[in-house]
Amino acid sequence: MSCFFGMEGFRLFTIFILALCSWQVGASKIHSDVDSLKIRKDHVDVAEISLADLVTKNTVQILPFEDPIAKKKIWYKVVSLDSVLRPFIKSGPSELTLVEVICADGYRPQLPISVLEHFDGYIAMAREDRAHFALNRSKDGREIKLAPYYLVWKPKKGRPFLKYSPSQWSYQVVGLHLMSAVGAQKNTLPEAKKGGSFEQEGKALFAKHCFSCHALDGVGGQVGPDLLKPLPATERYSSDWLERWINDPQSLRADSKMVGLKQSYPDVKKRRSAAQKILSYLNAL
Ligand code: HEC
Repeated sequence: MSCFFGMEGFRLFTIFILALCSWQVGASKIHSDVDSLKIRKDHVDVAEISLADLVTKNTVQILPFEDPIAKKKIWYKVVSLDSVLRPFIKSGPSELTLVEVICADGYRPQLPISVLEHFDGYIAMAREDRAHFALNRSKDGREIKLAPYYLVWKPKKGRPFLKYSPSQWSYQVVGLHLMSAVGAQKNTLPEAKKGGSFEQEGKALFAKHCFSCHALDGVGGQVGPDLLKPLPATERYSSDWLERWINDPQSLRADSKMVGLKQSYPDVKKRRSAAQKILSYLNAL
């Protein structure tokens, strides 16, 4: 026998090492997938806060919230957003222009600083009344998983009440990206290369209704495909098809996950005008 192990022993040893490695990779992946909150500042990762740190370094409270998705009062176990973000903001909240919320499925809504001025934000990590961190949407009863974190809000005392924007109540949150005016510039939409106010309005409408799910040339949400790379969507589809799609994607593909303009504009005329402005912006890129 030339080798102590023999070929069979060596093979088993290799399998053992490989299994050990993949277990290690799996373990660290589970850790960051399940309970850590990534903090980015102006496009640079600055911290990864574990659940243990979140609950020991901040005061945990159990508070009632008027949940607009479930349309009822729900008690959540929370820490204040303000206390979590404070260590990362040198000169106070005025340093920030917006906070981009990073969700596990690629949804990237942007909260302008006015949201933080009008509402007290909290990071929820559990429900008081259920072991299961999920809720049932009032619209269709569908269960929505909230873990690892869910952003919940209360109007600030003494401030005029602003309507909640749906993106404020983001679930499956895995990170928060704080942006100063300089950082936010890198995150803005490309300018239309031609055209005038029609395209400008289209750009603003795209930012409001599409940017949280779609990127343009790598910048933006990642729920849906990038609409410019490698080939612009406007070159692959006819304008008629695009307009129908943008207005009501479920009328063309029943299981589409896209939220069309129909939800924000029940009025057909207003919806058409918004869709046409968005398309003229996309056509001018
Ligand atoms: C909630 C997320 C979400 C929002 C908001 C959203 N989309 Fe989508 N979009 C998707 C997803 C996901 C797809 C992929 C197909 C599917 O699942 O139906 C898609 C597909 C598309 C496509 C086809 C792309 C391709 O390469 O085939 C276009 C064009 C498009 N969206 C444009 C828009 C525009 C314009 C808006 C804003 C009015 C918008 N979307 C808003 C999620 C979204």
